[in-house]
Amino acid sequence: MQSAEIRKRFLTFFEKRGHAIIPSASLVPENDPSVLFNTAGMQPLVPYLLGAPHPMGTRIADVQKCVRIGDIEDIGDNRHFSFFEMLGNWSLGDYFKEDAIKWSYEFLMSKDEGLGLDPSRLYVTIFEGDENAPYDQESKDIWMSLGIPEQRIYALPADDNWWSPGDNGPCGPCSEMFYDMTENGIGDLDKDGFVKATKEETIIEIWNDVFMEYEKKDGKVIGKLSQKNVDTGAGLERITAVMQGRKTAYETDLIAPVIEKIRIEARNFNDRYARIVADHLRTALFMTADGVIPSNKDRGYILRRLIRRATVRSLKLHFMNEIAVDLLNIYRDKYKDIYPEIAAPKNISVITDEMVKFKKTVEEGMKEFEKGTDPFELATTYGFPIELTLELAREKGHTVDMDDFRKKMAEHQKLSQSASAGMFKGGLANHNEKTIRLHTAHHLLLAALQEVLGKGVHQRGSNITEERLRIDFAFDRKMTDEEKKKVEDLVNEKIKMGLNVIRREMPKEEAVQLGAEMEFGAKYADVVSIYFIEDKEGSVFSKEFCGGPHVTNTSELGQFKILKEEAVSQGVRRIKAVLT
Ligand code: ALA
Repeated sequence: MQSAEIRKRFLTFFEKRGHAIIPSASLVPENDPSVLFNTAGMQPLVPYLLGAPHPMGTRIADVQKCVRIGDIEDIGDNRHFSFFEMLGNWSLGDYFKEDAIKWSYEFLMSKDEGLGLDPSRLYVTIFEGDENAPYDQESKDIWMSLGIPEQRIYALPADDNWWSPGDNGPCGPCSEMFYDMTENGIGDLDKDGFVKATKEETIIEIWNDVFMEYEKKDGKVIGKLSQKNVDTGAGLERITAVMQGRKTAYETDLIAPVIEKIRIEARNFNDRYARIVADHLRTALFMTADGVIPSNKDRGYILRRLIRRATVRSLKLHFMNEIAVDLLNIYRDKYKDIYPEIAAPKNISVITDEMVKFKKTVEEGMKEFEKGTDPFELATTYGFPIELTLELAREKGHTVDMDDFRKKMAEHQKLSQSASAGMFKGGLANHNEKTIRLHTAHHLLLAALQEVLGKGVHQRGSNITEERLRIDFAFDRKMTDEEKKKVEDLVNEKIKMGLNVIRREMPKEEAVQLGAEMEFGAKYADVVSIYFIEDKEGSVFSKEFCGGPHVTNTSELGQFKILKEEAVSQGVRRIKAVLT
């Protein structure tokens, strides 16, 4: 079954059951500063899950474009994609567990209306209960009434079976469906065996039913919503792989034609590189179609990173730029009937122009690398990312003295974004002296806000230009003049004290245990970089997950001043501030 047929069947199935079909929202969220891109089908529907009436009624179904960039280093394996489509059906205070589970099951198993999967290959999970909500006996009973054997229903903790879009918003326990992908079928498994099989990907998750009747605030479940909702999500890429008997969507009709074209054109075919190019170009095309253009900050920076990564891989595969146009055209033709915005010609030229520009940089850098030019000089003079130097060196069996590189970079108060453990902290416009100082002031400001307003204050967005810094943070009312003054004074006090700003690398777990401030919604690599700003007595004033760069001592900052404090959305405030 082709992907187009799966989309069509899904929507028709739920339309027949009283759901209004709505088009995908843009990848760029409206009025939601907490994420750069929609990362789940539910995100554009948050206001309605919280109780606002939806103009199309209480039963909705759609296929939503999503982008998840957190695990970019994993892209190219079987399961990770930076772009995917999520099939979803919603009850906005309408039906609940019974119909949600029944219909998920029916759609998966029905030969006529659905996917015609094999029920003996299905496993399901339910929520095991904690202080926020009880063991989900109701879902278990419903699954058993549908004929799922008790031993194939696993109760798991909140880490696995409580879904929320982040620290704030609608959330609730979920019930997930998994499918056995092995040739002969595995049969019954105990819980450990099941968990192991999911890790080994012989059994894969194909659908998630979330029973959203709770609300989270600042990371804590604070109580029930005014209505019981259902949020379901099934990744089209995964489902298509299952339907086409493939281990990965790279081998399905969604992406395989692009991989095949690369295989024909590449002088140096490598499956992983081909997958990275295919993944990134697809995402880039959807981003440009929604109006994103390459730049040095926020969404534009993510797009730029994807295009640059694709460019480097395509150079390694040895194919020319014209081929990128062909690849993008394959995607355009594949998707344009479903997403008409894809068809605009400028989407493709925006990407290829950026590729051409970056290719020049890379080629020059490669020449210098061959000559033995120092990695620091490659990065600063030629704009050649350190990750590329590392890769080229690895291929040649050389090592790179990273301590030396970091030292030189720190001395120049510059740090390549790409060295920051694969993170995308999009807040920085560029790395000149002024923005670096504002970046450090930004850390001081967040810590000061927490000291004055309470620990519940967390960052929701950030943006720094040469002129000013901007922080969006979770707080539910206007700040008083007195509070603003206190925050300003505290930051200036820390500046005057001349505190050291220290970068340390550590395992992510350790940083989490230390309580370092994390970017909302971001995922981090196993080893992360943390910036500490330490008081003279050695106590820590600020600690944040961050790739840098920063000044080495707060005395370099000058005078800090808050220009403005205002609302961005319900529960999110914005401060603009400067250094003079
Ligand atoms: N919102 C749920 C998810 O993304 C369905 O898995």
